[in-house]
Amino acid sequence: MLKVGIIGVGGIAGTHIPGWVASEDAELVAGCDMDESVLQEWGKKHNVQKLYTDPNDMFADSDIDIVDVCTPNNYHAPLSIGALNAGKHVICEKPLAPKPDQIQEMIAARDKSGKLLMCAQSSRFAGSSLAMKAEVDKGVLGDVYHARCWMLRRSGVPGRPGFIMKEHSGGGPCIDIGVHVLDLTLWLMGNPKPVAVTGVARAELAHQPGAFSVMGRGGGDLADMVDVEDFAAAFVRFENGATLILETSWMLHHGQTSDRQIWLYGTQGGAHLPNCEIYHTDNETKQHYNYKLQNTDHKMKAHALECVEFARAITEGKPSPVPAEQSLQVMAILDGIYRSQEAGKELVLDI
Ligand SMILES: NC(=O)c1ccc[n+]([C@@H]2O[C@H](COP(=O)([O-])OP(=O)(O)OC[C@H]3O[C@@H](n4cnc5c(N)ncnc54)[C@H](O)[C@@H]3O)[C@@H](O)[C@H]2O)c1
Repeated sequence: MLKVGIIGVGGIAGTHIPGWVASEDAELVAGCDMDESVLQEWGKKHNVQKLYTDPNDMFADSDIDIVDVCTPNNYHAPLSIGALNAGKHVICEKPLAPKPDQIQEMIAARDKSGKLLMCAQSSRFAGSSLAMKAEVDKGVLGDVYHARCWMLRRSGVPGRPGFIMKEHSGGGPCIDIGVHVLDLTLWLMGNPKPVAVTGVARAELAHQPGAFSVMGRGGGDLADMVDVEDFAAAFVRFENGATLILETSWMLHHGQTSDRQIWLYGTQGGAHLPNCEIYHTDNETKQHYNYKLQNTDHKMKAHALECVEFARAITEGKPSPVPAEQSLQVMAILDGIYRSQEAGKELVLDI
């Protein structure tokens, strides 16, 4: 059994634990958090004996094979690189890191160590995503030449400094939830190479008096701490000629509380998530016809399945289920949105 240590035992770490419990290849043995009282309570709750407040002490523990990084975004790169340099496999929460050059450094550390590095892009492991990927990979859409994707919340800012302050998060909804829907869309498209992005990233509502406490669900001092965007949108071009439109927001005058959709348009058909539908037209009979994907439910939750699959890949000597090179392309686009906002024009990407 591979031995797992989690760094950052907050909210998302709790969703990984069922995966480590279910895994036939790995078991949870250690936890690390800079907040000692949170760590002690977590250790008692999950019956984990090895508890560290300094990540370096966990890296020095030769018993540990896998480090599971669940801290706020800006600590992902240094912690992952430290773990890889100590000879550990690393699964790290999304985004792999807020800056593309940090991800390049993580990939270099991975290659030097010979260990696996995976971004925990949980959306890929949902039953509906796996079913859609299997269908699209059969070629039913032909060449996908355009995609639209969005992840929008009417009032849903994660009201914690780790998300709303750039020094901890690296960015706002673009990096927090845009990363989910963009990664999933690119994966379904077959990860074409992005070559240019035009983006906007703005805080239009967050600083209106009272708006953050009502729409952001974060009262008091939190409103003064927000220094990230509350809305972002982008138009992306790919090397193969395909294009993509992305929209993401934590607070928006939108008609739904939460709205996540992906539309794929190909030369032979279209597709939609979360409806799990495929759309065709028969040019001879002049009929439109649609079908719904079956087997879209999984017993295991996506956040657990990603851990199970990561440990299985290590045991079976397979590559990371989510290649870090794909996470680098995702972040090149998201970082490109911020840079395009600053420049006020389309940016050519050079990854
Ligand atoms: N996949 C998803 O659906 C999803 C959902 C929520 C959050 N996340 C990601 O998970 C990560 C953590 O988010 P969260 O909601 O669990 O945050 P959280 O604030 O609930 O927990 C973070 C924990 O990390 C600890 N910590 C911070 N810096 C540390 C350091 N340098 N060393 C050790 N411990 C440190 C904090 O004390 C805290 O206990 C973020 O990167 C976020 O993007 C992913």
